[in-house]
Amino acid sequence: MKKPVGIEALAIAVPRRYVDLAELARARGVDPAKYTSGLGAREMAVYDPGEDTVALAASAVSRLLRTHQVDASRIGMLVVGTETGVDHSKPVASHVQGLLKLPRTMRVYDTQHACYGGTAGLMAAAEWIASGAAAGRSAVVVCSDIARYGLNTAGEPTQGAGAVALLVSEQPDLLALDVGLNGSCSMDVYDFWRPLGRREAVVDGHYSIQCYLEALSGAYRGWRERALAHEVVRWGSTTPGEQLARILYHVPFCKMARKAHTQLRLCDLEDAPNAATTTAEAREELAKSSASYEAQVASSLSLNARVGNVYTASLYLALAGLLHAESSALAGQRLGLLSYGSGCASEFFSGVVGAQAAQRMARTDVEAVMARRERVSVEEYERLMKLPGDAPEALAPAPGEFRLAEIRDHKRRYVEGA
Ligand code: CAA
Repeated sequence: MKKPVGIEALAIAVPRRYVDLAELARARGVDPAKYTSGLGAREMAVYDPGEDTVALAASAVSRLLRTHQVDASRIGMLVVGTETGVDHSKPVASHVQGLLKLPRTMRVYDTQHACYGGTAGLMAAAEWIASGAAAGRSAVVVCSDIARYGLNTAGEPTQGAGAVALLVSEQPDLLALDVGLNGSCSMDVYDFWRPLGRREAVVDGHYSIQCYLEALSGAYRGWRERALAHEVVRWGSTTPGEQLARILYHVPFCKMARKAHTQLRLCDLEDAPNAATTTAEAREELAKSSASYEAQVASSLSLNARVGNVYTASLYLALAGLLHAESSALAGQRLGLLSYGSGCASEFFSGVVGAQAAQRMARTDVEAVMARRERVSVEEYERLMKLPGDAPEALAPAPGEFRLAEIRDHKRRYVEGA
């Protein structure tokens, strides 16, 4: 029998400050309902230069190792998925290894493909373990990013920052992955990118939504073909997608998850054996079902609505939010997950929630991490956004968290909170 492989535990790290999006909308002369209802966002994490991608990643890994009492000698791989790395050559992962004083005897590297980079790392880790090459060792995969479009841009209310660290092992207490069922879809498109030397992303916003939905369709259909062949799902009185207890999406803004879910349902309704008996209009109407969205998607978005876009980490922040809210009820049930990275690459995969998920999430203190944040005014958010990236303010990090202290001779120095 194949050994289970998947996510054993997770931890999150978020910036210490956030801004209220209704307040930001008023400051921009926009109807607050556009941000809160049109985009589905409530709050947005506000980072300062001391809370860079390395600091957030190291803080998340530190919390993961501490709260789950992970023996570092069992880690054989450390991968950071990010699209906002701090150096063209030296990986974020090597900073994290050094800051956490992790053993030398491990593979350490970054993976980059826009918001898909974290999933690339997770799949490399899971398949390394599943192949037997890991010989019983575990992997730590960290998704860490800062989403930045700039002041007064269309993308401004969809910024955010944070990190999610995942422990991947043969003891998948949180989520046992269905290794081998994944569906992928990639295309060469310019929907969102960040030319070298720029802090702000460039985005063709409405086109990026189209690319996401097209890539989702390809990836989901690929997964569904394999899942049907393995009898994980079947055509029947419910569609294959409806047989997943919950579906988690890449969440650049919460409303995108609703659009994504409509698209996934449309794929099933168009491909169903009885599709010829329905009209295109009827299928489109059925795809938009609010009941289906509420039942399968809404409960995963609580953290995303308070943090904003976290690029590579956004899908895994949704997983943290879902398991924080519902891990007991979901034990033994299958989830679907859709990762999307602009450029573009997408992957649909699935996994079964573990019997120990509730105990693991109780130790994960997600709510405590969120509760420590401080709300700042729009003026303070704007001040922090204007700070140069290489001049962090001299603030002490919270105990167990890290901050960038200075950059000297192009070398970054970090401090840990005592
Ligand atoms: N009350 C309620 N709703 C309102 C409203 C009001 N007063 N005014 C507008 N809305 C609704 C609109 O109807 C729209 O909803 P629908 O899409 O469901 O119709 C929504 O609010 C947004 O309105 P607009 O489309 O007019 O907003 P916009 O043009 O200013 O920008 C955006 C929206 C394109 C998403 C922009 O924020 C952006 O470019 N964001 C960054 C790019 C992005 O996130 N792309 C997502 C796919 S790519 C990806 O996923 C990778 C990644 O992480 C970046």
